[in-house]
Amino acid sequence: MVLPIYVYGSPVLKKTADEIDKTYPDLQTLIADMFETMAYANGIGLAAPQVGKSIRLFVLDASAFADENPELKNCRKVFINPIISELAGEKVGYNEGCLSFPKLHEDVYRESRVRVEYFDDNFEKHDEWFDGIVARIIQHEYDHLEGKLFVERLSTIRRKLIASKLKRITKGDFSSSYKTKL
Ligand code: NI
Repeated sequence: MVLPIYVYGSPVLKKTADEIDKTYPDLQTLIADMFETMAYANGIGLAAPQVGKSIRLFVLDASAFADENPELKNCRKVFINPIISELAGEKVGYNEGCLSFPKLHEDVYRESRVRVEYFDDNFEKHDEWFDGIVARIIQHEYDHLEGKLFVERLSTIRRKLIASKLKRITKGDFSSSYKTKL
């Protein structure tokens, strides 16, 4: 089922999300719905708070980058209770978007490599390094679990320049191709 996506201004996006365990109700349905919602909205990552659930879960789908990087062809992943244990490499700029900010794109600088400990959808534990676009998506989605939004990683000046655009989102004054919620 495609779920509505909570946009900037929704209190759930500013909360620190809670860890979950195997007993979380209907977890597999939620994960399936998040993949469906992300695909519907043409997203490459989606965190549970963006569908109104303040829990430490996000999904990503980097398969759209398989043209440049064939190993990403089937790169669809689930991260439960992730912990970023190391960041490495140079800070790289990239024009990021976020489904909670319809049509807003801004350059964000992030480390190029990330080490994450996490559980997958079967609650198997992993400890892995990622780089490139996947490292970026992981850092962006992990921020959502901390209640941190990508615009908070912009310079003060840049945030001032986009302040009116941000205000319009909080007032529902925007268009998007997917269902949203405030
Ligand atoms: Ni986002």
